[in-house]
Amino acid sequence: MNGWVLLAHGDDLAAHGCWATGWIGAIPVLVRNFNGSLRGFRNVCSHRFALMLTEPTGKGPLRCPYHAWVYDQDGVPKAIPFNDTDFHLDDAARKTLALPAIGVAMAGGLVFAHLDPDADSAVPAGWMAGEGRECTLPDGSVIGPDLVILHRASARREGAC
Ligand code: FES
Repeated sequence: MNGWVLLAHGDDLAAHGCWATGWIGAIPVLVRNFNGSLRGFRNVCSHRFALMLTEPTGKGPLRCPYHAWVYDQDGVPKAIPFNDTDFHLDDAARKTLALPAIGVAMAGGLVFAHLDPDADSAVPAGWMAGEGRECTLPDGSVIGPDLVILHRASARREGAC
């Protein structure tokens, strides 16, 4: 899938440390609030490729549950248990292990994600500007004029798209 995907409601990410997860096609992704800035990454640890955040939403550090690597706002592992004795990763080596970034956009109080970190973040806002008509999102969900979202399965059942 190559497009913007609805990931979460903005309220889910309103405070520092709040995060939300989802999928863009078969790729697990996450968005987290870092001191008021929403940053998104692939939700796969750089160490042994574990899925890191497994709940739809939550609050806390971006920490892998497997060996407890903690990632910063740039997706770089900043805390690595036993680094001094086992891994010996300096800052440059840590940067090579940064999580791949994704695109993040806020529009209409909703948070959208895109696999391309350089994707045009104005696109979701353009959808929201379509007053009085429905907008079909890339995942098949439909946003009505009142900004009520119908998941794609519901939209199909009701014949909305
Ligand atoms: S797999 Fe994530 S810290 Fe080891």
